[in-house]
Amino acid sequence: MSSRTAVSSLDAVVLAAGQGKRMRSALPKVLHPICGRPLVHFPVRAALEAGASRVVVVVGGAGRAELEAYLAAAFGDRVTTAVQAEPRGTGDAARAGLEAVEASRVLVLCGDAPLLALADLERVVAGLAGGAPLAFLTCVLDDPRGFGRVLRGPGGAPLGIREERDLGSDAERAIREINAGVYAAQVPFLRAAVAGLQPNNAQGELYLTDVVAAAAARGGAAAVVGGADAVVGVNDRAQLAAAEDALYREIAHRHALAGVTVRGDARIDDGVEIGPDATVEAATRLRGRTRIGAGAVIDVGCVLTDAEIGPGATLLPYSVVTESVVGEGARIGPFAHLRPGSVIEAEAHVGNFVETKQTRLRRGAKANHLAYLGDGEVGEGANVGAGTIFCNYDGFAKHRTVIGAGAFIGSDSQLVAPVTIGEGAYVATGTTVTADVPADALAIGRTKQENKLGYASRLRARLRAAAKR
Ligand code: UD1
Ligand code: CA
Repeated sequence: MSSRTAVSSLDAVVLAAGQGKRMRSALPKVLHPICGRPLVHFPVRAALEAGASRVVVVVGGAGRAELEAYLAAAFGDRVTTAVQAEPRGTGDAARAGLEAVEASRVLVLCGDAPLLALADLERVVAGLAGGAPLAFLTCVLDDPRGFGRVLRGPGGAPLGIREERDLGSDAERAIREINAGVYAAQVPFLRAAVAGLQPNNAQGELYLTDVVAAAAARGGAAAVVGGADAVVGVNDRAQLAAAEDALYREIAHRHALAGVTVRGDARIDDGVEIGPDATVEAATRLRGRTRIGAGAVIDVGCVLTDAEIGPGATLLPYSVVTESVVGEGARIGPFAHLRPGSVIEAEAHVGNFVETKQTRLRRGAKANHLAYLGDGEVGEGANVGAGTIFCNYDGFAKHRTVIGAGAFIGSDSQLVAPVTIGEGAYVATGTTVTADVPADALAIGRTKQENKLGYASRLRARLRAAAKR
């Protein structure tokens, strides 16, 4: 039998219909974000990587539409859902999932386990090779509290799993080998076993864990001992935070091995792409679909969401970039704010306390200090002085400001949109521009200065006398 056939006969079921009461949240547990994706993303992806042809996610009532929409968008038709009408326990959830399974073997995972190691899953699937009806993942923890414990017979063979609430003796409580909630099974066996489950336990639920005893009674359950960190199942928000810390460390480690300098507590979401020789400094947050080019520097405290940063670009400290593009060799910040729709082309500069939105700075353009550039375009090599404002909003609609190549906008100018400044034009400092400026013209709109000679000391004398009265 070829390995191809073996691979194609594996489906997976991911249990995700529980309410997640311990999260104390209106949001279903498996939709809580971790490293930029809903919790459920990770076990589903792990199941696909472990060779499942299809993944059936068991969903419940709350948040079902949202969960189904996410899965369809993220995984397409390799992932389907099955509905568990009432949360009657993990055994009942597995039963619901099995109804949609077509393969001869199945991998069952929990939707709240984001850190599963691929190697562990593969070993559990391989545990079926000897003809065992069931294999399951265990691990030995210093603190096993909250987990089901693995009961073994005198010869060491697994006999069953006992849930924390059902532990009968101190000896059972002292067992440090726990059930990780990962199972591989022959489908006919598992269908029969879940059909026979009884709710005789502290929670009155149908426990999937009871299938281990059923397998033990029938030819044996193979226990595969995995690594400790792999099993952090998320039940409450403290565990979510711990799992997220671990996952962020893992992601940073992966980028480091791929040639990225990652410092301190930089947090890089799952799915972010970073080119070689880039530097990601401490306290940065790289979120969503962010992509960083080779050799770029993302300095301390930058927050990037769905940002595209070109090769060799520099983001100086505490810059915030959202749904925007920064070109090759451009320089941003410190303290710059690129809001959605900003495009900063190659070699352009956006300096401190400059805010942009829906605005393109063409190649080599500069806005180095204190400006608001909204709904506009700055031509190649143009210079926007300190304190410039694109007055883009009249209280009802947004209007565009267009600045031609090589133009110079003097400091403290207001450009009242819609308005166009021609190529190479000058706008004098302090001008309020309300009409288009032709190319190569100078626009100046300020009152003429008058110097009153000797007036300052006369003024002081008058004010001093007034103060004495
Ligand atoms: C479960 C195991 C426990 C194991 C632990 C590993 C059982 C009875 N216990 O406990 O032995 O040590 O995982 O993390 O299986 N779910 C449903 N429908 C339900 C109930 C749960 O789909 O009716 C889903 C949940 O959404 C969750 C998963 O099953 O993703 C596990 O349920 P949970 O309540 O978290 O089980 P644990 O108490 O953690
Ligand atoms: Ca759990």
